[in-house]
Amino acid sequence: MTHSEPDHQRGLAGGARPASPPSTVLVTGGAGFIGSHTCVELLDHGYELIAVDNYSNSTPQVFSRVERIADRFVGAVYELDIRDRHALSAVFDRHSVDAVVHFAAHKAVGESTRMPVEYYDTNVGGTTALLRTMREHGVHQLVFSSSSSVYGDAGHGSLSEDTPARPTSPYAASKWLCERILDDVCRRLPEFTVLCLRYFNPVGAHPSGLLGEAPVGVPENLMPYVAQVAIGLRERLHVFGDDYATVDGTGIRDYIHVMDTAEAHRVALDHLADAPGMHVYNLGVGRGRSVLEVVEAFGEVSGSPIPYQIVGRRPGDVAELVADATAAARDWGWQATRDLIDMCRDAWRFQQLNPHGYAGSAGGRNAMSGPG
Ligand code: UFG
Repeated sequence: MTHSEPDHQRGLAGGARPASPPSTVLVTGGAGFIGSHTCVELLDHGYELIAVDNYSNSTPQVFSRVERIADRFVGAVYELDIRDRHALSAVFDRHSVDAVVHFAAHKAVGESTRMPVEYYDTNVGGTTALLRTMREHGVHQLVFSSSSSVYGDAGHGSLSEDTPARPTSPYAASKWLCERILDDVCRRLPEFTVLCLRYFNPVGAHPSGLLGEAPVGVPENLMPYVAQVAIGLRERLHVFGDDYATVDGTGIRDYIHVMDTAEAHRVALDHLADAPGMHVYNLGVGRGRSVLEVVEAFGEVSGSPIPYQIVGRRPGDVAELVADATAAARDWGWQATRDLIDMCRDAWRFQQLNPHGYAGSAGGRNAMSGPG
């Protein structure tokens, strides 16, 4: 386990916003795509943060950028694998954690069909290791990253949270298993409160261009792949199937800006104390877009059409996943506000400013120069 702390301690630098009730949040997978944007959002709202990550699909440089945007420090960052209970326990020993936001997981549908054991081990095993450690340290509040993929081939139309789950890939099944475990834990141990957020398709980037989706290796997900085609790193997009029963035959998803997604985590934390037990919320816009619509929108913001080729369907994929996004609006007064053009424009800015992801950025926290 590697540990780093900022030179000076937690005093708020300029730019801190009016604080939520003081509380310390442990963010697992804090260097990841959604995790890093959520760290900024939480720092902006006065939360104290402890982050852990094993950097399997991210880099430590992310935290310099998080701190630069928020103009505040992350309290401490630990390099550890979420399954390592000994290392995790040491973090809980050292910090007084009030709540956990658990992002750390593998997240690609296609990859999960090739690596099912790794997906179950990290996603389910990581979650039970975390739960056990939380329980041992008297921490009972959790915001959990779930996925719209748990709905699987549930069918057309917008999917409310009570739509029966029908996962079609090891990734989706791993998230569904975690939900079942968390629900059972909340039923047996009433001191636990869990909010499961079922993400539809978070994309886009921080508007500064400092944070975005920078997968290690070949992107598994649509938007980062399209961005790499747009900048010339890859020749063309492979569109996985044009024979679905959808408007143009390509897959329909409900894309949600990562900034909206991050905001929803902060709002969820603010509502953790509303009611005990487990509660599930969709995080989506409530509007479906086809692969070809995304390709067209990205071509529009980048100024040139995205070359693509239709290939066969990807194993584990389904035709359509669109959120009924009304529950979060009803219970929290929260809804996504950014549209597909915002998502493409911000993803494109990040890609242009970071053509090779975070690879070129300076090493230490608070040492990066960043794009001007
Ligand atoms: N697609 C392509 N070509 C690609 C990649 C994707 O045509 O190179 C298509 C897919 O077939 C699908 C759509 O683009 O129709 C979206 O695919 P993604 O891989 O971007 O996302 P998924 O719908 O598979 O969703 C997964 C997880 C979500 C997660 C999302 C973004 O299930 O939980 O990735 O990370 F939010």
